[in-house]
Amino acid sequence: QLADSLYIINGFAKDYFADTLFNNEEGQNVGLSYFEERGFTEETIRKFQLGYCLNTRDSFVKTAVAKGYNLEYLQKTGLVTIRNEQPVDNYRGRVIFPIHNQSGKVLGFGARILQKTDKAPKYINSPENEIYIKSRVLYGTYFARQSIDKLNECLLVEGYTDVISLHQAGVENVVASSGTSLTQDQLRLIKKYTNNLTIIYDGDAAGIKAALRGLDMAVEEGLNVKLVLLPEKEDPDSYVQRIGAAAFREFIEEHKQDFVLFKLQISLKDAGNDSAKKSQLVNEIAETISKIDKAEDFTRQQDYIRQCSQLLKIDEQGLITLVNKFIR
Ligand code: UTP
Ligand code: MN
Ligand code: MN
Ligand code: MN
Ligand code: MN
Repeated sequence: QLADSLYIINGFAKDYFADTLFNNEEGQNVGLSYFEERGFTEETIRKFQLGYCLNTRDSFVKTAVAKGYNLEYLQKTGLVTIRNEQPVDNYRGRVIFPIHNQSGKVLGFGARILQKTDKAPKYINSPENEIYIKSRVLYGTYFARQSIDKLNECLLVEGYTDVISLHQAGVENVVASSGTSLTQDQLRLIKKYTNNLTIIYDGDAAGIKAALRGLDMAVEEGLNVKLVLLPEKEDPDSYVQRIGAAAFREFIEEHKQDFVLFKLQISLKDAGNDSAKKSQLVNEIAETISKIDKAEDFTRQQDYIRQCSQLLKIDEQGLITLVNKFIR
């Protein structure tokens, strides 16, 4: 079976890159120092099975082929590409983040360049194949499941290093969308674990925009969504490393905002005294509220109607009528 072969190759590669990181001189000097400079402890590095791919043409692929792994499958995983008719290692000179499925098997990899340049992408990720379908994967589910169950809440961040640093800080109910705008499949996956989602994207314009875009999708999926805005130029990784675990956890608890109400407040500010804009806004908010499944969550819909009508300074009954127009 092809899928099994891909899992086996990824498992081998994961071990090979981790071994390089800890036991090879270049691995230690370049890869391990990089992770240490970012504040990752050895325990954390081992837990997430991080690795390093030597900055040579084909050390990995040579070893893999010598061990009998099929070159065609090695290409399918994205670990190997063909250049000038020769197989070469695709993640040369990069640190490696294995991406696990829910039971801990390796689906693919993210490979980060050490020094940002304009030429090369910061991260290279595995291509889509029989086992890695990007829109259905959340980074970190394997490590987060127990904690999500226990706390009945899932935190959603953008990146690999956000997940890893938060774990190190004792925040374990966290997964990453891996930069892609959130997909409906990823939300469905979260919903299998819990109904309570808190989005903590990067505090830059792109992060805020991506977080807002998730609103209607998450509401439609029946999730209770909250949002935490980080200070500008921070992401969960940089921020927790800067202020420490306890202060970070406190920040999250104090800055969790209801997603719908948050969006409403932003738009209200934006509309100012423009009455056309404001009535457009009332319509939009009514539509959002109408998407909360009444049968499933009547109280929540009522709560939104009450709080939104107060924020908008409009009559509650009027908003109810409007909301009902969107429900067919
Ligand atoms: P970010 O640019 O926020 O990177 O992208 P990061 O996670 O903070 O990474 P560091 O701290 O610089 O190492 C968020 C996520 O988007 C995906 C990765 O999954 C990354 O973790 N991404 C980003 C890519 O796939 N390719 C890229 O070139 C950049
Ligand atoms: Mn559960
Ligand atoms: Mn970002
Ligand atoms: Mn970062
Ligand atoms: Mn980031």
